[in-house]
Amino acid sequence: MYFTQKVIDLFIKPENAGELADADGIGEAGDPHCGDFLRIYIQVREGVIKDCTFQVFGCCAAIASSSMTTILAKGQALDDAEKITAQDIVHALGGLPEEKVHCSVLGESALKAAIENYRKNDQ
Ligand code: FES
Ligand code: FES
Repeated sequence: MYFTQKVIDLFIKPENAGELADADGIGEAGDPHCGDFLRIYIQVREGVIKDCTFQVFGCCAAIASSSMTTILAKGQALDDAEKITAQDIVHALGGLPEEKVHCSVLGESALKAAIENYRKNDQ
């Protein structure tokens, strides 16, 4: 198994880690196979994700892909952020070892859940 430099960088120094105190939407996802857990916070202004942070309990690939999810989501319109897939996350990381690809699914699921949560709060 090998990790790309991008994965290692984001594992050692994750971008956008932590709780977002004034979040407009919060989404969670867990992987029942390994017990890893991710929470994503979004702050939305005029339909655009202004800020996006995460908290994760998981393996190095889960940390790096969660961080990459927030990087990809930040600055995106909600409709575009909603289309971010696990594949996009893996691609942006320069790839993940086969047995770690499932870790990126957490990012896609938690981001979608956060957007859904925002839309519900916004009604
Ligand atoms: Fe989930 Fe490693 S298997 S932390
Ligand atoms: Fe479970 Fe990485 S091994 S998310």
